[in-house]
Amino acid sequence: MSSNGSHDDMSPITPQQYEILHGGGAEASEIARQRLSRRRFLRRSMLAVWGLSATAAVAGALYYMYPTSGGDFGSAQTVGKKTDFPAAKPEEVALNEKGVFYVPAARAYVIHLASDASYLLSGQNLADQFALENVVRDSDGSTWVALYQRCVHLGCTVPFRDDCVSFKCPCHGSHYNVNGEFLDGPAPRSLDRFDMSFKDGEVVVNTGVLNANVQHPDTTTQLLAKPTKECSAS
Ligand code: FES
Repeated sequence: MSSNGSHDDMSPITPQQYEILHGGGAEASEIARQRLSRRRFLRRSMLAVWGLSATAAVAGALYYMYPTSGGDFGSAQTVGKKTDFPAAKPEEVALNEKGVFYVPAARAYVIHLASDASYLLSGQNLADQFALENVVRDSDGSTWVALYQRCVHLGCTVPFRDDCVSFKCPCHGSHYNVNGEFLDGPAPRSLDRFDMSFKDGEVVVNTGVLNANVQHPDTTTQLLAKPTKECSAS
């Protein structure tokens, strides 16, 4: 018996009830009916709670795994004028000042490298690698790329570090250069990147189109030299 004097569904029945239940008759069937309906109610309530929890968990996982799952994130977003994103050389970028800009609504970094940035590839090889890595060459010779903020190892948000002009994941140390190319750490590939384009002088990042196929670079595919500045411990 519970503290308020009533029997809950899980409490053992009293010896008297046991006798009545096993003796048959109308009283027995009434007790059995009440216990059954309580049990049904509890079971249905638990199923409903479990169902809501499972639905919320699955929706949350899909939301973070697949940017096309809904809302503004998952569609094309105009993130600002081109002039809001001044370009810089890879070794001179500074977060939200020049070369690399965090755009929270798109969960992305917009990278704008100056026309005199040095690349390790040239000619058609460079053009092909730009295409593979969603790097857009602008009419003034500068280049743009929109990197998804999510670390491709286990999904932490990757901060950009001015001290070593690169992305360094705080979770397990994956390290990527300013163009999102893998440098070192446990990440299985380079950072993923969104489709990007320009319209009427504005920058459009399509967070519904994700390129998750940029592999670890080698000497035939690497775009930028490794940064010479080491990331500090913090
Ligand atoms: S989640 Fe970034 S290194 Fe593990």
